[in-house]
Amino acid sequence: MNSIRTQVLGFIAVILLILLVVLNVYPLVSARDLVFTEKENAMSAQASVISSSLSGLDRLTSGGVREVLSFLEVSGYDRIVVASEEGRVIYDDGGAAGVMAKDPDIMTALGGKTVFRSSFKGDAFRSACVMPISRQGVITGALYISEEDTERAGIILNVQSRIRVISGIVAILAIAVALFFVLNLTDRIKILVDSMRTVAGGDYAHRLKMRGKDEIAELGDEFNKLTERLDETEKQRRRFVSDASHELKTPLASIRLLSDSVLQNENIEPAVMREFVSDIGHEAERLQRTTEELLDLSRLDDDIQVMPEPVDVKQVALDAYALAKPLADDKDIRIKLDLQDGCVVMATANDMYHIIFNLLENAVKYNNPGGSVDLIIENKGDTVEITVADTGIGIPEEDRLNVFTRFYRVDKARSRASGGTGLGLSIVHDAVHVHGGTITIGANKPQGSIFIVSFPAARQEDTGI
Ligand SMILES: Nc1ncnc2c1ncn2[C@@H]1O[C@H](COP(=O)(O)OP(=O)(O)OP(=O)(O)O)[C@@H](O)[C@H]1O
Ligand SMILES: [Mg+2]
Repeated sequence: MNSIRTQVLGFIAVILLILLVVLNVYPLVSARDLVFTEKENAMSAQASVISSSLSGLDRLTSGGVREVLSFLEVSGYDRIVVASEEGRVIYDDGGAAGVMAKDPDIMTALGGKTVFRSSFKGDAFRSACVMPISRQGVITGALYISEEDTERAGIILNVQSRIRVISGIVAILAIAVALFFVLNLTDRIKILVDSMRTVAGGDYAHRLKMRGKDEIAELGDEFNKLTERLDETEKQRRRFVSDASHELKTPLASIRLLSDSVLQNENIEPAVMREFVSDIGHEAERLQRTTEELLDLSRLDDDIQVMPEPVDVKQVALDAYALAKPLADDKDIRIKLDLQDGCVVMATANDMYHIIFNLLENAVKYNNPGGSVDLIIENKGDTVEITVADTGIGIPEEDRLNVFTRFYRVDKARSRASGGTGLGLSIVHDAVHVHGGTITIGANKPQGSIFIVSFPAARQEDTGI
């Protein structure tokens, strides 16, 4: 794996290298160029003075040249050569006169051009200036002066070695600091990765402790929040599965018990037999209802939702009423309707039916004989409100938030006796929220409960009416 550590360190090393090379080369090159220019100026000036003095001589002779040089007090040069117009050496303070000059620069100077050369090699600046000597516009010879400067070269070499030492120290420091930061960073990333592995392995209770206040610490916080949610979801899932299996197990156990009794009892009376079989039927019905409710819930949990359509709430309310009425009649309970026309919301008729029927069924189921239920549908402009109010046993305040939880029943015994699984209101809650509505529970006066569901009213462009 190409770790961040190597990548970052490699990057820093490359940058550092470039920086140090520039730092080592640039000042020296500029200093050298500066010395070259200075030398050129100084030597050209000197050469012109000598050459114009020499041009005063009628004839270039070794003695004449020497005289002029001593008159001008020329010193500090390594070598001074004067050549005649045909290139013969007339004066050479470092060699023999009379030979032909071999230096091509002297030939160039005899052609009328001044040449200056300077180089920095080893430990000295070696510079040479070659200039024509002319008398009344006619070239009569060439002057060559050269110089070797070790003093300036020494200064430059000294600076160079100091820069090298400083660069070395800077490089070591920079690498050390970078290493510290990178190691710290990768250590913390490793902690994060380890935590992720732990959580991925199923330990949802694991929490990450990250020092600092930077982005990595923020990442750690977000990771903890995520794990917490995962933990919660996982707990909910477990609870749901155990509740659901319990709800399915109980009626199945009853069915087994009842059927065993029928089988073991050979001389069972037809009336008793009928009763047992009818009980088995009831339990089977309960199972069927529970499984249907679970399927409804899982459908509502799914992200894929049926496209909402304009639903006339009054129409659905009438359908639900038709089914709830026999239950109400059985318990001598009156359902009073107050249904406004033109209450249209964007939902599905099926979900709307579940909402109204479950609320009506509860209002009947948890009512007292002789009680009543009000079903009101009204258009409040921006919203459509569905109110189901009963005169029943009511829901204690502390239970009101919980009744929407799956399998939650206020009075287990009573709810089970009336065939309840505690899923009805969860379905109502999910269906309401899927279609952008809200639901509230309150106490009815003088007694009972009141459920108010509110949906945004469908806009005209949605309904197409
Ligand atoms: N109108 C009401 N008056 C009093 N208590 C109610 C009312 N509606 C619901 N409850 C309480 O809330 C609980 C949850 O209701 P919910 O409809 O979810 O389940 P259920 O009626 O027990 O079963 P089912 O899944 O068959 O509807 C009920 O068990 C009951 O205790
Ligand atoms: Mg119910």
